[in-house]
Amino acid sequence: MNYFNYVDNKLWCEEVPVAEVAKAVGTPLYLYSHRTLKRHFEVFDSAFENIPHIVCFSAKANSNAAILKIFINEGSGMDIVSGGELYRVLEAGADPGKIVYSGVGKREEEIRYALESDILMFNIESPQELEVINACAGKMDRTARISLRVNPDVNPMTHPHISTGMKENKFGIDIEKSLDEYRHAAKLDHIDIVGVDCHIGSQITELSPFIEALDRLKELIFSLRNEGIGIRYLDLGGGLGITYDNETPPHPQDYAKAIMDRVRDIDCTFIFEPGRVIVGNAGILVSRVLYTKAGADKRFVIVDAGMNDLIRPSLYNSYHNIQPVELKEREDILSDVVGPICESGDYLARGRVIPELERGELVAVMSAGAYGFPMSSNYNSRPRVPEVLVRDGKFYVIRSGETRADLTRGESIPDFLQ
Ligand code: LLP
Repeated sequence: MNYFNYVDNKLWCEEVPVAEVAKAVGTPLYLYSHRTLKRHFEVFDSAFENIPHIVCFSAKANSNAAILKIFINEGSGMDIVSGGELYRVLEAGADPGKIVYSGVGKREEEIRYALESDILMFNIESPQELEVINACAGKMDRTARISLRVNPDVNPMTHPHISTGMKENKFGIDIEKSLDEYRHAAKLDHIDIVGVDCHIGSQITELSPFIEALDRLKELIFSLRNEGIGIRYLDLGGGLGITYDNETPPHPQDYAKAIMDRVRDIDCTFIFEPGRVIVGNAGILVSRVLYTKAGADKRFVIVDAGMNDLIRPSLYNSYHNIQPVELKEREDILSDVVGPICESGDYLARGRVIPELERGELVAVMSAGAYGFPMSSNYNSRPRVPEVLVRDGKFYVIRSGETRADLTRGESIPDFLQ
């Protein structure tokens, strides 16, 4: 459930008309609803209230400081994948004792930064990484708390680009090899084994892949405990899907129930790393129609947001609902909604039957709160767009739009070219 609704044929974000924000801030812009963000977090978190758990919001899904802070204020931990994300979440006030760090390519400098920050645990993705973390911790006279991210070889039945827990994916350590790797880790001087972790993919709309992964991890935990290797945390990653079009993903409560039914016999603190399910439907991308033109067999609607602002349709052929900000009587027509970027793959919607949009009007690209702004770029030298948060009838610019001067920041022309 979210707080983007039509009232008198106009789209509102909570108690603020979307058109009012667009007028004040300019388009394109990302618009988020505070009430929706808070509600989604609370619903997810409270679904697990009967078991010890930490929700570590996956910062990559939306890493704006204000948005991170909303979750931090609700008691959220953070799931990070880089030194940059660690910096962001700490700046926003995250508790280091609730930060988990995944990622196949952690650099030594990033590892040292995480050790200095005393994060909860590293989710280790390769035997070499384990050695490097042990060595870094040794040099710093510290002990690194770790889990192995195991690859349980489960098909999450999602887009191949966002599936991560199958044998062919680069993520984690093969579950078959993980017991030996844990035995080895147990002998290292600067490693404290605290958990087991997996993350099998994203936009998962069925419960069965989660259950399958959980069952495999449980087996591993029991084997580890039999050998005297204590496990305090079981991190199940993120991945719960949302409705973009007509998907029917499990509600967080159903997800929680299915998990809780199976974990009564494991004495652990559970970690979850949700991203999309919290922020996806709490944000939209607002754009203005620049031009329309008739193609051979369909209409092109050229808007002022492009693949540099929201790359999901171009990259994964993802579906985002596109709606006029103001509804009126009009025909539906077969359209491509495209951006201004010089690439044929620059589109927000393809072959979609939508209301006949007009030059100058505003459109809302729905469900854009996850992996929208954080994946945006300056391609075609387009400044990144502002992000705005609505709360209690007011709106706040939580990231200003970049200026043209931002585009060349850091560049220099060497003397020999002068
Ligand atoms: N934990 C780990 C280790 C992850 O790699 C991810 C996402 C998450 C948690 C959060 O997953 P979520 O709950 O959001 O599904 N850019 C793609 C999604 C990539 C997901 C990457 N990892 C998209 O726009 O669909």
